[in-house]
Amino acid sequence: MQRGIFPAVRGLGVYVAAAAVLFVGLLSSQQLRAGDQSRAKELIKNSCASCHRFEGKPDSRFKLRAPDLMWAGSKYQRSWLIGWLTGKEAPLYAKGYRWDLSQEETKHPVVSESDASSLADYFDKHYKDRRVKVGAFDVSKVTAMEVEFGRGAYKAHACIGCHVIEENGKIVGGPQSASLVESGRRYNMDWLFRFGQNPQDFNPHSGEFLADATEPQLRAVIGFLAVQGVKDFKYYEPWTSKEFQNASVDRGKLIYKEYCSQCHGATGKGDGPAASGLEPKPAVHANMAFDKLPMEYLYNVVNHGGRAVGKSTSMPYWNLTIGQQGVADVIAYLKATFKGGAAEAAAAAPATGGPSGVCPQPRKTQQAPDEFLAKNNPLPASAEHVQAGKKLFMETAKPLACMNCHGTKGDGNGPAAMGLMPPPRNFTCGATMKDLPDGQLFWVIKNGSPGTGMMPFSGLPDDEVWQLIHYLRTLAK
Ligand code: HEC
Ligand code: HEC
Ligand code: HEC
Ligand code: HEC
Repeated sequence: MQRGIFPAVRGLGVYVAAAAVLFVGLLSSQQLRAGDQSRAKELIKNSCASCHRFEGKPDSRFKLRAPDLMWAGSKYQRSWLIGWLTGKEAPLYAKGYRWDLSQEETKHPVVSESDASSLADYFDKHYKDRRVKVGAFDVSKVTAMEVEFGRGAYKAHACIGCHVIEENGKIVGGPQSASLVESGRRYNMDWLFRFGQNPQDFNPHSGEFLADATEPQLRAVIGFLAVQGVKDFKYYEPWTSKEFQNASVDRGKLIYKEYCSQCHGATGKGDGPAASGLEPKPAVHANMAFDKLPMEYLYNVVNHGGRAVGKSTSMPYWNLTIGQQGVADVIAYLKATFKGGAAEAAAAAPATGGPSGVCPQPRKTQQAPDEFLAKNNPLPASAEHVQAGKKLFMETAKPLACMNCHGTKGDGNGPAAMGLMPPPRNFTCGATMKDLPDGQLFWVIKNGSPGTGMMPFSGLPDDEVWQLIHYLRTLAK
């Protein structure tokens, strides 16, 4: 049956294209548009409505032949829609929309470029969904961190059980519902946001899974979907916003006193009244060189809390309490106040268990499980791998490049080092490093050292961890 429609639709398209060429000189653009409209209407009636519904209430997909299109004017990005209608997009339902019916593999009907364009205009005009608030989800404000949260929530809410996405070049997930591989190019995000608020308003067979998500979680999941299939997505960097341009050290000082000093201490020495009960201890801000730390990290740890950067959950998230302006102000205060100079570092040495650079270095780190201790670096110690490890160490490792704590020389004297108890490992210290097998290093990098400032780098692929280890081994003297 579909085979019948296919050539018919295409044939009509050619006919109309030829007619349009003939009449183009005679018709005003207004009339042309009116012509497009009736053409689209006719197409819908004759070529689409046999499968798709354009009106009615949401109904069980098991009573439908194809996805509902009564909100088609709000749901898609125009370029995707035209690509879909002209047969350039990948199928959405790997097992067929009605996987419950055994059906031969079918191809979607294809229309000409100009018909697709007329249909898109027609949808835009007649099938807008009034429940969808324009501007409800601002794609230009999606941050890299939010996308990471979204990835976590996507997995935690079992989305991956029914929808496929692409991960490291592979398609993963259950294929029985709409593919989300290209969702960033496919959906209008305002529609997606409204869908997420109550999916049952669109499809009775979906959405239970989002029901217990909070609005920030929903936004994060949509942020995650907004980047799927989009090359070079431009992430928002909140620390470039006007709140940061207008940040005030004085206001930040007040915030520090009211919200931070209870743990970090009135003068940033980590000795606030709440500190004694915490493990790991609040960072000793007085010893940290804040102006040398990347803004992305400072923003994430203050705005989203310790957990977001793999640190202790005792470091709260401040966004909801002090807002963007408050976060900007308190960071401005940290940078203006705490510079972590050599004098402060020396003065703090007793509190932090010895200056970071000492060798041999006192070490209480937990031992890795046996299966890790038995591991050996599977990569050759080639210049290429060492160089790749160095780049991760110095610049790219997320949530925070190693050198910020371990120092550019690897001696444990990075700008954040002096605020940490115990201090970061001194990789230049051969006497300490020679007793640490590769598997131990691997395990700590992946899992962090609980109760210390060493956060887990669980997002790093194994190979990159091994490259880092090759680099660390070059530092020991
Ligand atoms: C023979 C049945 C059939 C006809 C005719 C048909 N479609 Fe479809 N359409 C489907 C099915 C089935 C899907 C689900 C996509 C898949 O299986 O990959 C779909 C998907 C779509 C989608 C994406 C829906 C979504 O959000 O998941 C759009 C848009 C669409 N069709 C528009 C049209 C238009 C416009 C026409 C008429 C020119 C048309 N279709 C004709 C069966 C049909
Ligand atoms: C048990 C399977 C299942 C799970 C789990 C699930 N979904 Fe769905 N989802 C569906 C079904 C079924 C539909 C309705 C569309 C269809 O008929 O395939 C749907 C529809 C959707 C749509 C709209 C698809 C479209 O183009 O119309 C999106 C977006 C979506 N789900 C996202 C999610 C997200 C995000 C999660 C996790 C929070 C999730 N789903 C969890 C089965 C599931
Ligand atoms: C309830 C106690 C508590 C409060 C209140 C608190 N923090 Fe923290 N903070 C911590 C702890 C504990 C850590 C150390 C986390 C770790 O190392 O795992 C930390 C770490 C940090 C760090 C990261 C330092 C590093 O190691 O990289 C910054 C920056 C920071 N806090 C800023 C603030 C600011 C600004 C405020 C006030 C708006 C604040 N904190 C309020 C407990 C607190
Ligand atoms: C926020 C500060 C911080 C960052 C960033 C950081 N580390 Fe650490 N690291 C520490 C601290 C503190 C320790 C000491 C932990 C302890 O004593 O158990 C440590 C310890 C280690 C150890 C010692 C393991 C052992 O068994 O003794 C290794 C290996 C290590 N880090 C590797 C890395 C690598 C690789 C990176 C970057 C991908 C990194 N660290 C980033 C703070 C940091």
